[in-house]
Amino acid sequence: MADGTAAPPEQAVYVVDFGAQYAQLIARRVRELNVYSEIVPHSITADELIAKKPSALILSGGPASVNVEGAPLLDPAIFELGVPTLGICYGAQLLAQQLGGEVGRFEAGEYGRTQLTRTAESSLLHDGIESEFTVWMSHFDAINRPPSGARATASTANSPVAAFEDTERRIYGVQHHPEVVHSEFGQDVLEQFLWREAMIEPAWTMGSIIDSSVEAIRAQVGDGRAICGLSGGVDSAVAAALVHRAIGDRLTCVYVDTGLMRLNESDQVVETFEKHQGIELIHVDAAKRFFDPLAGVVEPETKRKIIGETFIRVFEEAKAGLNDAGFLVQGTLYSDVVESGTGDTTATIKSHHNVGGLPEDVDFELVEPLRNLFKDEVRRVGSELGLPDEIVWRQPFPGPGLGVRIIGEVTPDKVAILQHADAIVREEIAAAGLEREIFQSFAVLADIRTVGVMGDERTYAHPIIIRAVNSDDVMTADWSRLPYELLETMSSRIINEVDGVNRVAYDITSKPPGTIEWE
Ligand code: XMP
Repeated sequence: MADGTAAPPEQAVYVVDFGAQYAQLIARRVRELNVYSEIVPHSITADELIAKKPSALILSGGPASVNVEGAPLLDPAIFELGVPTLGICYGAQLLAQQLGGEVGRFEAGEYGRTQLTRTAESSLLHDGIESEFTVWMSHFDAINRPPSGARATASTANSPVAAFEDTERRIYGVQHHPEVVHSEFGQDVLEQFLWREAMIEPAWTMGSIIDSSVEAIRAQVGDGRAICGLSGGVDSAVAAALVHRAIGDRLTCVYVDTGLMRLNESDQVVETFEKHQGIELIHVDAAKRFFDPLAGVVEPETKRKIIGETFIRVFEEAKAGLNDAGFLVQGTLYSDVVESGTGDTTATIKSHHNVGGLPEDVDFELVEPLRNLFKDEVRRVGSELGLPDEIVWRQPFPGPGLGVRIIGEVTPDKVAILQHADAIVREEIAAAGLEREIFQSFAVLADIRTVGVMGDERTYAHPIIIRAVNSDDVMTADWSRLPYELLETMSSRIINEVDGVNRVAYDITSKPPGTIEWE
């Protein structure tokens, strides 16, 4: 592909999105079965689908009723393509409705855990699965009659046809959600459909992802040069490592040390990329450039603006000698593409659209090798490429760095206090084995001082606020129920080891109403 994204492998499954909460989850479950999958909109036509050469289709759930006017339907010509198709929830009802079955209202809807009973011999709900098991339901309408030619194979209290199949046409439907963990045998059902009914080889592995990405990057960049801005985060790190494997020393990375990074972070980036990966790295130590304009500024938006603009200027200067690079590597993930709702690929962008902030007069072609991957897949690719766990498993960190975790004026002294406290929080979270479980955990320095007593001395110093949250999508978050013993250890270590701190508080605010960061 033109953007350095590996072309889909020979066998690919397309998840047709009918507005489901779970379309992304279905795609992930398919990938966990070593089968490549992508999400496509329900407006896709038969011709567009033919061009993609699908090995199978999965029709997702969705909030609509197939019986209301304007309900999203599938181009009927798609059913004539002979592609094995599995409908889930709304997807199953849609198959029934469009292929000669019947969907109506039954006595009541079903939400949550429901007992499903197999009522006939079934390929999909095969003998390896128990004949009665618990599934996760979320539907109001029910299928009363399966598509013509299909047999009903299961039922529940309020779903006369909870599963159906037509093994000749290879059309299958389940009313429940096999993709959610609360559904027993969920992966067995998907595996049966993909590996045996649709006869797809489980060949999509980390090794094959890396090989095809490397091939695609080489095809795109040719003998050109590329640059990549490293943030210290996992996405840009893995993108850089992958491109480096493809084009070697024709990749140069730029790392801007804003002075607002976590403790030892800059050393680690240099160590990992320059020493171990052997990647040419321009390391700009720009702390002073950031602290000078931040002096005396307390308003959060102004601070963000100063940090953002300074970053752009420093990045521009750093790569002034690299203007022969025609390619810019970015760590865009599949979730970024899907969430932004565009799903399209723009190969060439004007530099000012880019967060890296590039000179106005240069057009870069983007190389986005992670565009088809989810975060956990990116982490696996990173490990496979030899990046250390500290980078691969790093928690999200805001672009403006510790600048958004210091309330009030940002000064080198305050950054030093916060770096020290933050390092203790991270060390203790890691020691408790919670690093991968907790979405983000960090320290915040508030711009107040309170009276305390240490030894026989009165103190008048800053508090540190510890924040730890669980979140799936950053839009909502809940405060983590950290063990008291862990909070106690962090608190006493911070007060004993960090000068200028005499109190520790734990933030027990969810988002909303709070945000994850303090600023
Ligand atoms: P909030 O505080 O809005 O944060 O709940 C949501 C997520 O976004 C991260 N964050 C940022 N990331 N640049 C970034 O790259 C930023 O300016 C920024 N501000 C917040 C935050 O760490 C959390 O994961």
